Amino acid sequence: AQPVILDGDPGHDDAINFLLALSGSKSASPELEVLGLTTVFGNVSLDRTTRNALIVRELSGVDVPIFAGADRPLVRGRISAEAVHGASGMDGPDLPTPTRGAEAGHAAQLIIETVRARPGEVTLVPTGPLTNLALAFRLAPDIVPMVKQVVWMGGSTDTGNWTPAAEFNALADPHAAQIVFTSGVPLTMFGLNVTHQAIAHPARVAAFRALGTRVGEFAAVLLEFFAGHHRERYGWDGGALHDPMTVAWLLRPELFVSRPMHVEMDLTNGPSAGRTVADVWNVTGQPKNAEVVTGVDADGFFTLLVERLGRYP
Ligand code: BDR
Ligand code: CA
Repeated sequence: AQPVILDGDPGHDDAINFLLALSGSKSASPELEVLGLTTVFGNVSLDRTTRNALIVRELSGVDVPIFAGADRPLVRGRISAEAVHGASGMDGPDLPTPTRGAEAGHAAQLIIETVRARPGEVTLVPTGPLTNLALAFRLAPDIVPMVKQVVWMGGSTDTGNWTPAAEFNALADPHAAQIVFTSGVPLTMFGLNVTHQAIAHPARVAAFRALGTRVGEFAAVLLEFFAGHHRERYGWDGGALHDPMTVAWLLRPELFVSRPMHVEMDLTNGPSAGRTVADVWNVTGQPKNAEVVTGVDADGFFTLLVERLGRYP
């Protein structure tokens, strides 16, 4: 099994990504070994994203350590997305009070220790601002060449969703993103250009509900709430299921197409601040530092999600 650490800001789609990864432990031969969940500020404040991770862990029934990380970006002021995810960050389902807390210690420290213990093996899967990874890479530069790969949901090769140019996770900490993009670590990017190709429309939501399980119902209610913002903003018949593409790619890379590109953060304060400037046509000839995902078999992606979430009793 591939060892992974999932780092996110749950978040409706982060929560489904966690459940997708942890579903492996319900199988006799899991493809992934989830070594930990780490949390970061993002969609809502760190205390809320951490609480949501604790709730998802209890729902999954999987005993995985959870470490909280950064509560703010490296340089800029904090932004958040209550408008998309509700005040809790995971509005929709009834959210029980978690019975167990997070572990003592910082997310960046877990990343450092885990990567050092298994050099060359660990995949990092961030689905929020890249602050925890940037902190780990700065605190312990020795780990950078020991990370197997980073699989990130964030950015876009075309339009943004938080400004016309910038995607939320990229804009939330552009300096952290630049640290990761320039680190030399093998990096795969799932930007809006691909995640907007997989809309959780009502028939797809119904497939989760039809599982007839707690996890299936939880996912369906999450997706129904998540659809609200997408209906209003884009006129779509459901939410774009961004974050679970990362783990889906680790499980079934053949569902996706991608190309290597040079990607650079816009760190200026102009109208394109926080943009992931992707050299789609290689006009600069600069070294390609990211494998940028450009296409998905959306039906195959949702079939995989429903099948894997269906493993929970
Ligand atoms: C990203 O921002 C968050 O709202 C989602 O969880 C996803 O990670 C999409 O722009
Ligand atoms: Ca997220």
